[in-house]
Amino acid sequence: LISSIRAQEILDSRGTPTVKATITLQSGARASAAVPSGASTGSNDAVELRDGDPKRYFGKGVRKVIAHIEGEIAEALKGRDVCDQAAIDAALIALDGTPNKARLGANALLAVSMAAARAAALVRGEPLHRSLCEKPSNLLPMPMFNVLNGGLHAPGSSLDFQEFMLVPMGAPSFSEAVRYAAETYHAIKELLISQGHSTAVGDEGGFAPKLMGGNQAACELMVRGMERAGYRPGEDIAIALDPASTSFYKNGRYHLSRSGNQVLDSQEMVELYQGWLNVFPIVSIEDGHAEDDWAGFAAMTRQLGGQIQIVGDDNFVTNTRIIQRGIDEGTANASLIKLNQIGTVSETIAAVRLCQKVDWGTVMSHRSGETEDAFLSDFAVAVGAGQMKSGATARSERLAKYNRLMEIEAELGDRAEFVNPYR
Ligand code: PGA
Ligand code: ZN
Repeated sequence: LISSIRAQEILDSRGTPTVKATITLQSGARASAAVPSGASTGSNDAVELRDGDPKRYFGKGVRKVIAHIEGEIAEALKGRDVCDQAAIDAALIALDGTPNKARLGANALLAVSMAAARAAALVRGEPLHRSLCEKPSNLLPMPMFNVLNGGLHAPGSSLDFQEFMLVPMGAPSFSEAVRYAAETYHAIKELLISQGHSTAVGDEGGFAPKLMGGNQAACELMVRGMERAGYRPGEDIAIALDPASTSFYKNGRYHLSRSGNQVLDSQEMVELYQGWLNVFPIVSIEDGHAEDDWAGFAAMTRQLGGQIQIVGDDNFVTNTRIIQRGIDEGTANASLIKLNQIGTVSETIAAVRLCQKVDWGTVMSHRSGETEDAFLSDFAVAVGAGQMKSGATARSERLAKYNRLMEIEAELGDRAEFVNPYR
């Protein structure tokens, strides 16, 4: 049973405040969790509450969130059974009382919801990935490594698209997938150095170069990196993209301004991707259209959905009601899953289950502003998400997740499963 809840303002990987909550049980056991923060957020994301006090952290302090956790939330949850995650999350949602968690803050609710899940695992004496949900899976997710960063995550790069990811789909195990990607990352670095480019990295640990030829040159560089590291493009390693195109969508047009002044409409974007599919080993495209461009998403899914995975992120925001609309209208065949887009553990599990029911892919995701917390990794295995992205094979807030997954893989031993979801 919950005895007390404390919270702390800590910094994320961008040096911006975020929240860590600690639950103490009557037994004296305690568990903590920290929430991440995005940069290219969807407009329907659950509300991340900030102080707005310009004298502290440019208004981005989270002291109000801390006060909500230690005040109202601690009061409401005191004496509750931490093993009943559904009841705890329902109490949090009811206490907040708004549809988008604007009153107490989704960051307040999620920090407590995650800490409760960890505390429950302690009580049960199980690892988090075993304790999180009924019938936990043994499936390690296929990782997507974001090795070239653009868009809002690397303002100085020449890349309009936000994420260029390596998918080691031919690897026999999760830890081998990590090795394939780490070696390719180093090979890409050598190529950049040999061409006189910068090897400085963006928010997710991927390189953020000023390449002539922009987005397309980035795909070419990835393929050459694979070959240099001794891997077969399209066999051992494929490419996944997250253009995060909401960030360059204005007045109904997509403005590819960094990589040469192209302005494209929805259909022209589909054709751009279609053209790339003939040249590059691409298996997945996320947010290829803007969050409001449902018609663009539908056209893309009709035209390319048979060949590749079409993932919705900013449009679906891990919200079952909106994902259901996407299912009904055929606007994707997979959904990104981010705990802090919706704000509680139970609602996030529900979003995954909805996708699984209709055979949609699910990609568990970190945020560009992360902490050392690897809750995500246990979550991905528990629900059997099948895929997960956590940035490059660099920067410890990214590696915390991959390292935790390798640990889980070792823990599961012979029971561990790892499959190519694109076959
Ligand atoms: P964000 O980006 O965490 O900055 O929102 C991640 C994504 O768009 O998938
Ligand atoms: Zn995205």
